Amino acid sequence: MDELIKQAARDLSEAKMVTALTGAGISVESGIPPFRGKGGLWEKYDPMEVAHIDAFLQDPTKVWNLLFKDMKEVLDKAEPNDSHKGLAKLEELGILKTIITQNVDGLHQMAGNTDVIEFHGNMAWQKCMDCHKRYETHDIDINRIPPRCSCDGILRPEAVLFGEMIPQAALWRSRQVAQDCDVMLVIGTSAIVQPAALMPIVAKDTGAKVIEINPERTLLTDDISDYLISGTAGDVMNRIIADLEKLL
Ligand code: APR
Repeated sequence: MDELIKQAARDLSEAKMVTALTGAGISVESGIPPFRGKGGLWEKYDPMEVAHIDAFLQDPTKVWNLLFKDMKEVLDKAEPNDSHKGLAKLEELGILKTIITQNVDGLHQMAGNTDVIEFHGNMAWQKCMDCHKRYETHDIDINRIPPRCSCDGILRPEAVLFGEMIPQAALWRSRQVAQDCDVMLVIGTSAIVQPAALMPIVAKDTGAKVIEINPERTLLTDDISDYLISGTAGDVMNRIIADLEKLL
C-alpha cells in the first residue's frame, strides 16, 4: 500500500486538472451507513419500496417514517471526516478542481470544497409537492409525518429518488469535468448505479488516470481503474496528503 500511496501523491502533484467522484463509502467514517454491503441500508429495506418515486407517491407517510426521518436524524449529527477534509486540502493546494458526489449529505461543502456537483441532489432542502415552496430541512417539523408546507402540500427532500432523472445541469457538468480531467479520484463507491458510474469510464476514455480508494474491489477495479488503494478513505487520504506535501 505504501508504494501506491506514494504513486498517488506523485500523480496528483503532476496533474493539471483533478476531479473526484465520491460515494457513500466516503461518509461511513462520519457515521452515515452505506447503501450496499455489510450494514448497508438496502440490507434493511428494499430500495424499490422506500427510495423509488412511485413508492413515495403511493405512500409518502411510509417513506418518511422508514427512510427520510432516519436520514434527517443521522445527517443532522454528521460532520466531515478526514477524507472530506483531505479533498478540501487538495482544493486549497490548487490540485483538486471539482467533486462529483452521489451523496446527499452536504459534507464536502461543510469541509470547505467550493465546486461540488450534487449528482443525486441533497437532503439539505425540502420542496412542497404542490406549490414547490422550498424549506431548509433543519427548519421542518418532523413530529408531523409527512411534514407539510404552509399550503398543506406534502414536503419531499430534493434528493433524486430511483425512477427520477438526474438533474440535467449536474449530468452535463459531470460529463464535462470527467472529460477535462487528467486524474480522477474515485472514492467510496460500488460503481453500480448509473449514470454516475459512467463518469470514471468517460474520464478513462479521454485519457485520464483513474485512482480508486475503497477497502473492496468494485466493478471499476479490473478494467477502468489504473490502481486501487485498498483501505478506508480517511486513512488513505491522510497518507496521500502527507506524502504530497513532501513533494510540493
Ligand atoms: N472508505 C472508503 N470506501 C468505503 C468505506 C470507507 N470507510 N466503507 C465502505 N466503503 C465502500 C464499500 O466497499 C462500497 O464499495 O463504499 C462503497 C459504498 O457503496 P454503496 O453503498 O453502493 O454506495 P454508492 O456507490 O454511493 O451508491 C450509489 O446508490 O442507493 C443509491 O442513491 C444511492 O447514491 C447512492 C447510489
